Amino acid sequence: MRKPVIAGNWKMYKTIEETVGFIQKLRPMADNAIHCEVVVAPPFTALRAAAEAARGSAVKVAAQNCHWDKEGAHTGDISTGMLRDAGCTHVIIGHSERRHDCGETDEQVNKKVKAALAAGLTPIVCVGEMLDEREKGETEKVLERQFMTGLAGLTAVDFSRIIIAYEPVWAIGTGRTATPEMAAEAHGFLRRLARQQFGESEAGGIRILYGGSVKPDNVGGLMAQEEIDGALVGGASLKVDSFTALVNYPRG
Ligand code: PGA
Repeated sequence: MRKPVIAGNWKMYKTIEETVGFIQKLRPMADNAIHCEVVVAPPFTALRAAAEAARGSAVKVAAQNCHWDKEGAHTGDISTGMLRDAGCTHVIIGHSERRHDCGETDEQVNKKVKAALAAGLTPIVCVGEMLDEREKGETEKVLERQFMTGLAGLTAVDFSRIIIAYEPVWAIGTGRTATPEMAAEAHGFLRRLARQQFGESEAGGIRILYGGSVKPDNVGGLMAQEEIDGALVGGASLKVDSFTALVNYPRG
């Protein structure tokens, strides 16, 4: 009932030319992959070219960040309207690298989520604990804070339009994946929060992606978990072959 999403987060990789070449190769595979939605998140400079290369195909284009204001004196920032103008349909919000590199807070995540929804974009909202938080047994406390503050003030209809990505920080780019069971446990906790805050049908419909060292050889085990509705992938999304293998994850 929940259509899985396989999303590639390219971070600070790929020129415009590399982006267009990638999407041209990806298009036919994405069009055949009716079992899931396919999203790529190129850097800002390549978004427009990506959207043009993807036009008429099943490939959707996401930005990796946005500002919450419509416009204004924010040097170096990009508004949600500008992302729409460039052809984006999705935007990643609150990725742990932005939280850590740029000090992004849950309150800012909340403003960005609302701005993205108002602009008609689908926010992919990232949450996840750091290693020391997991070791101290604080995973659920951290997820609850990120969920409650990051999604504060959303209506049930708003909530039904977002995607959540659970990305344990210790698993990102480290080659250390959460086991499918660990990921499913965190996803189950997030879904319980969703049920409390937004109700049964919204909790049942929300897609929760797992992210953190997802690779072609571990995607099958993760996707076999009922609670896991897709993947947000960094490193393994940069090559067409491995991203295609992820899109065509083993299905039982
Ligand atoms: P990774 O990155 O797949 O390289 O661990 C995931 C992410 O940061 O979204």
